[in-house]
Amino acid sequence: MDLQLFLIFVILSLARTKTILGNNLNNRDECITSRDIPSSDPLGCYVFNNISVDSLNGLSSLNLPPIYRDRYGFIMDPGLCITRCTDFLFEVAALRNGSQCQCGHSIDFMSSYIKTNDSICDVKCVGNLSYDCGGKDSYTVYNTKDGVLGHPLPSISISKKMEIIKNQNNDSRYQQCVKDSPYCYQRLLNGTIPPLELATMSVDKCIEFCRQNNFEFAGLEIGTQCFCAHNYDHVNQLSSDECSTSCAGDNNQICGGPLALSVYRTSEIKNNPPLQIILPIVFGGVLLLTLIALAALFIYKYKYKIRNNPPKDNEERRFSLERID
Ligand SMILES: *[C@@H]1O[C@H](CO)[C@@H](O)[C@H](O)[C@H]1NC(C)=O
Ligand SMILES: *[C@@H]1O[C@H](CO)[C@@H](O)[C@H](O)[C@H]1NC(C)=O
Ligand SMILES: *[C@@H]1O[C@H](CO)[C@@H](O)[C@H](O)[C@H]1NC(C)=O
Ligand SMILES: *[C@@H]1O[C@H](CO)[C@@H](O)[C@H](O)[C@H]1NC(C)=O
Ligand SMILES: *[C@@H]1O[C@H](CO)[C@@H](O)[C@H](O)[C@H]1NC(C)=O
Ligand SMILES: *[C@@H]1O[C@H](CO)[C@@H](O)[C@H](O)[C@H]1NC(C)=O
Repeated sequence: MDLQLFLIFVILSLARTKTILGNNLNNRDECITSRDIPSSDPLGCYVFNNISVDSLNGLSSLNLPPIYRDRYGFIMDPGLCITRCTDFLFEVAALRNGSQCQCGHSIDFMSSYIKTNDSICDVKCVGNLSYDCGGKDSYTVYNTKDGVLGHPLPSISISKKMEIIKNQNNDSRYQQCVKDSPYCYQRLLNGTIPPLELATMSVDKCIEFCRQNNFEFAGLEIGTQCFCAHNYDHVNQLSSDECSTSCAGDNNQICGGPLALSVYRTSEIKNNPPLQIILPIVFGGVLLLTLIALAALFIYKYKYKIRNNPPKDNEERRFSLERID
């Protein structure tokens, strides 16, 4: 084998072993944060009727990927899918082949899908083997109205909801939407474990809680949870639609998402003046200095010229002196 390739192989293997060991050491029995469980049984196992427009592409009507996949690849379960579909006001959440989640509206769904024998939906959910998540070509379907406990459909319109998601950074304290760790002992904002959990959670309640406990950062997750920290790893930024859950205490705000944190500063930092203010000052200053320098140069040259070429007659001399004074 090529020596270079071999070395790369060794290094990669070592790195891999290290992360695996590291995870095992930190995960303490690989505990995975428990997720919400559905509050009712599925409607059943369904297959597409092959003739209508496929109604389980609801998310794409919001310019989101039609299939929602969990970003870790091992946590998809009915609770996560129902949460996603509920966040975007869909009434139907459908799971397929163990890990795919698709959303739709109930009227369209009923006219394009046919209920079939439950035995067809026999693929276990990758995130929780206690549940079925459809089959290769069939869907285990839940009604989101029953939802998951404590995660109701938001009481606002979808257009309003999309606007709120888009405008989260109107609040100057808002930092970003970041990925949280699915492991129990590796939460991203680790100052307060377990998190503060409130059925009336809002952005301000969480920020205030963290501020009073002298933390610089506050992070909201899944609508009801509030984490605090002095610092956090900024690199795991998610797209803004991953922080999709309306705050349980105020549907006009976003409080993170499933394993996604809406992070805020607990106090406004003294912002440096914006460029619109700095630039004119700098340019104005430079311009002024240039004018002064030019004026000085002009006066100096004028005097120098007079000294070197004394005027021939008194008339001219007087004139020159007058000019200088
Ligand atoms: C899997 O589902 C069972 C039954 O609802 C639940 O008790 C358990 O907490 C779930 N596991 C996870 C990791 O969510
Ligand atoms: C739809 O088409 C697929 C593939 O051809 C087939 O397996 C399935 O049985 C059809 N479904 C219905 C309801 O006819
Ligand atoms: C569903 O399928 C199983 C096995 O294929 C069969 O034993 C059962 O009778 C079917 N149930 C219904 C309601 O068709
Ligand atoms: C279903 O999932 C299995 C295992 O994750 C994968 O190998 C297979 O390609 C998937 N099938 C479809 C139709 O998506
Ligand atoms: C946020 O800012 C956008 C554009 O800057 C504005 O249209 C919108 O009304 C603001 N939203 C809120 C809730 O202040
Ligand atoms: C908490 O997070 C900070 C910042 O990412 C990190 O430096 C620290 O080691 C973490 N503490 C624990 C106990 O995990």
